[in-house]
Amino acid sequence: MSNPLLEKLAELKRVVGNTPVIRLRNLFPSNVEVYMKLEFMNPTGSHKDRIALFMVEDAIRKGLLYPGGTIVEASSGNTAISIAWVAARLGLRAVIVVEEQVSRQKIGVLKSLGAEIVYARQGENVKLASELSEKLGGVWLNQYDNPANHLAHYTTTGPEILRQLGEVDLFVMGMGTCGTVTGVGRFLKEKLGNRVKVVGVVPRGSAIKGGPGKGDRIEGLITSFVPGLCREFDEYVDEIVEVSYNEALKAVKELARREGILAGLSSGANIVGVRRALELFKARKVVTIAADSILRYPELLS
Ligand SMILES: Cc1ncc(COP(=O)(O)O)c(C=O)c1O
Repeated sequence: MSNPLLEKLAELKRVVGNTPVIRLRNLFPSNVEVYMKLEFMNPTGSHKDRIALFMVEDAIRKGLLYPGGTIVEASSGNTAISIAWVAARLGLRAVIVVEEQVSRQKIGVLKSLGAEIVYARQGENVKLASELSEKLGGVWLNQYDNPANHLAHYTTTGPEILRQLGEVDLFVMGMGTCGTVTGVGRFLKEKLGNRVKVVGVVPRGSAIKGGPGKGDRIEGLITSFVPGLCREFDEYVDEIVEVSYNEALKAVKELARREGILAGLSSGANIVGVRRALELFKARKVVTIAADSILRYPELLS
């Protein structure tokens, strides 16, 4: 029996992923090949389009979502936008729980996609999303613990990287939900063995590295708690390095000026992370991710 939601979802799968990789020609010595996968070329401008599709598909297949059903998620960033986009295409109701200080510009994007916004006090958006999903009879996707997030990258981003580059010695990625670093990391290690090293990047002071949890704010990367997926799949991450806000910002500007790549702040953190990782591991071919674009953060451009 055909499922109208799955049919619409299949249409979206054709336009998500298969993003290009580009070699960084100026920021690293010529004896190391460093590539960046441009995830900002996904339809809503980030790698989160991949996980929105996977998490929604998983919920449909489990019989939790039906035409006209409700999705609830706690996110003020890229995931919220990706979920609102999928919901708009599938005719679902999206309720996004955001913390009070989220920018008006992001709220504008979410509203333009038809999402309903619920405000929560700082640190309370996850709890409120869980409560709201019960109250509204909706599905709480919960990207921090949802294995479909990890599987999206295990099934799509990882294989794309291997297809595009053939061989990789080192993969470096910022840790938010840890879906990307663990999903890609697992795929590469299963295919290439433990000779491929996987390095996670966190903001200075992050709880993931045992810090006080009041780390520098690098949007998308985690500071205050250790997400479930980071724990569950930690065997696929060899090392975690810390990066400060100022270092990430400087690298974002270098990426733009010296490489012509308009990537967001977490991509700057990834560049600093690659430098740190190359001090820890010998590597000839390195890949990292530009998760989103600087155009999403116009305030950083000045
Ligand atoms: C801009 C940005 N970079 C990096 C990440 C981290 O990716 P992941 O959640 O897969 O660990 C996120 C996650 O929200 C993000 O929005």
